Parts: sequence; C-alpha cells; structure tokens
Amino acid sequence: MYVAVMGYGTVGSGVVEVFNKNHESIVRRSTQPSLELKYILDLRDFPGDENEEKFIKDFNIILHDDEVKIVVETMGGLHPAFEFVSQLLCAGKSVVTSNKELVAAKGYELLQMAQEHNVNFLFEASVGGGIPIIRPITQCLAANEIDEIAGILNGTTNFILTMMIEKNMTFSDALKLAQDNGYAEKDPTADVEGHDACRKICILASLCFGKHVYPESVHTEGISGIALEDVAYVQSGGGVIKLLGCAKRQPGGKISAIVSPAVVQNGSQLASVRDVFNAILVRGDAIGDVVFYGRGAGKLPTASAVVADVIDCAKHVQRKKAFGWGPSEENYVVDYRTLPVALYVRAEVNNREETLAAVREAVGEVRVLSREGAPENEVAFFTETDVEQTLCDKLAAVPGLHVRSQIRITDY
Ligand code: HSE
Repeated sequence: MYVAVMGYGTVGSGVVEVFNKNHESIVRRSTQPSLELKYILDLRDFPGDENEEKFIKDFNIILHDDEVKIVVETMGGLHPAFEFVSQLLCAGKSVVTSNKELVAAKGYELLQMAQEHNVNFLFEASVGGGIPIIRPITQCLAANEIDEIAGILNGTTNFILTMMIEKNMTFSDALKLAQDNGYAEKDPTADVEGHDACRKICILASLCFGKHVYPESVHTEGISGIALEDVAYVQSGGGVIKLLGCAKRQPGGKISAIVSPAVVQNGSQLASVRDVFNAILVRGDAIGDVVFYGRGAGKLPTASAVVADVIDCAKHVQRKKAFGWGPSEENYVVDYRTLPVALYVRAEVNNREETLAAVREAVGEVRVLSREGAPENEVAFFTETDVEQTLCDKLAAVPGLHVRSQIRITDY
C-alpha cells in the first residue's frame, strides 16, 4: 500500500521523518504487507533532502495514481487544501489531515464525502497536536453524554503567557521565541488572536455535541491585549491567565462556545499547564472530569498523531470510521452575553475608594487585588457571577471607572 504527503513544512517533514524512522513497526501495526511513502507534494525545492526522489509538484500525479490509497494533507489553509482533499476522497483515497482550518470549516462536508466513497477522513492531529483527543471523545468516551469541554488549545499562546508569567518577558519577545521554535502558525495572528483555538474548539464541539459548529458562530478573543499588569494582579488573586476554548451543552438542544483569555484558579488542573503544552478537560455524565495533556504543537508531536491516523487508515481499509458529526443548525450557539460569568477587571479611576464603593453598589461585593508598583489611580478586582451583559452594563454605568482590561473567570 502506498502513501503520499502533501506539504513538506514543519508538520509534513515531521510526518516523513517519523514514517521513515519507525517504518518497521509502523508497517507491522498497519497490518498491511507493506506501507511505503511514494510521493511528497510541494512547490518548493529541497535539494539534498534524503527523500529528494519522491518530490513532485503536480497534484494530479497523486490523484491519478491508483496505488496511492492514503494521502496526508499537511499543507494548511483552506484553499487549495479543500479542493485537493475533496478530489482525493471522491477518487476513493483515504485522507489524513492536521489542518484544523479545513476541518473546522468543512468537517461535515468532507466526512460526508468520505462516507459516500467508502474511505476514511481522519484528523486526530488537528486538535492538541500529539495529544490523543479525537479518538478518546469519539470512541473511549462514547458511552457518555458530554456536558462540557474546555481546553488550552494553542501551544503558542500558552508558551507566550508562560514566558510573561514566569520570566516577565514582553509579549513580542515571547512570540518571537515561539516562532523560532516552530510552534506558531505562518501568520501568528491566528494564534495570538485566538482563531487557531477557535477552530479547535469548533472541531471538539462538533464531535462532542453532534452538530457542526462553525468558527463564525464562536465569540473569539485573543491574548494581544493582556498586559503584564494583568498577569501580576491575577497572580495576587491566586490564579493565572490562560487562553481557553470552552463549549458547553445548554438547555433546548443548544450549546455555548467561546474562546477567550480566562482567569484559572491555581488549584485547577489547567493552571499548571505551562509552556507549549495543551490540556483538554472533558466533562462526561458517566466519567466525570477527564483531562488530556501533552505537547499541543511542534513538528514531531503533531507528526505522531498524523502517522497514527495513517496506520489507522491502513488497518481499516474495509471498515470506515464514523464520527456522529451532523450538519449545523441556525442559532445553535447561544449568545455568550446571556450566560452567567464572573469577571476580573482592571480600571483607571479618579478616586480609588469612592469608585470602589460605587462599584460595590452597582455589582455587589468585589475582591480587590494588588500588585507591586501599582499607581494610585489604578484598581483591579474580581466580581461575583452575573449575566455577562448585565455585569458589563452595570460596570459601564459606574462614574469614574475607566475599564482597561476585563477577563472572564472560570471554574474549571
Ligand atoms: N500554532 C498551533 C499552536 C500549532 O501553537 O498550537 C498547533 O496547532
């Protein structure tokens, strides 16, 4: 059986490396007499690469080669990945991808195509890099009704926040380091503004709750507005700031889904997730809470998940894997502003005591926070829980309170 890889970037070259390095055991586990890499598609040249003779630039060679039964898509981006993957599935080839943008936007469509053409479309590496999460949700936890899922889903932003928290490093220095380490997307805006985490929570929510959740329906905030002042205040309040993607079952067959920075209390399992690591908490009605933890980005961890999917495709030539991922529905994701939340707030004030008294009058008791070197005209506090829109309206009406930063507090 033959395999092709499309895209020889960080992940694609990692896939080839793992495939070659562990080839013997990979073939054995595939249960096929042979499993060989035939082509690597990339428009760039890689002179001197040990796989040089396998490089091609024409997608049609893979499409029309009947010997190629499994194709790995590690090109990234929506186009032409979607067109290529669609054609491959329709030509009766199984496809494995690490491309979360593709799965989040077109997962339902591509799974339908795979089903119609009796092939597999697998995407374990699209969420959590090397962490097993798609299979656990769809197989190991299949007996549960999943009520909630929340995770640190982006390695780059977790790395940046860790550097800010532990090394007092500036945001841009930490981002540069993440890029040098190969964690960040080609355009790191997708990482720092939360779009990458959004795509991942969409994939997880679609699998957990059974209907396609599109990125456009998920409110998304990134970490570019987080200041070292916020990091210090939240630390004094016994927590850390993490970028979380969360989705939760809501009454009436709806769900909530959001990506935003969040205050996580130090006792939480998610608080101790540092560096490039990801962690995903799944709350099932039979299992309770279960947390999946590991390297969420990087060449070889992601390749580990891709190659495992290739093995799975090879093992399941006759049997197709079903995901229970149905079409979306209008207004499926409820407005996050209608849901209860507690907030961390940092603000500029004219008169600290007067303003804090007015805040308490408006929203009830607050827990005032401190940081070294805070100016006289700055306050920071944690509020109690209220409907988000109500809380924000009440804070906006407090005279002399100029909110500079506002972060949701979680109870995971
Ligand atoms: N840029 C992504 C991250 C890569 O940092 O998590 C893995 O999806």
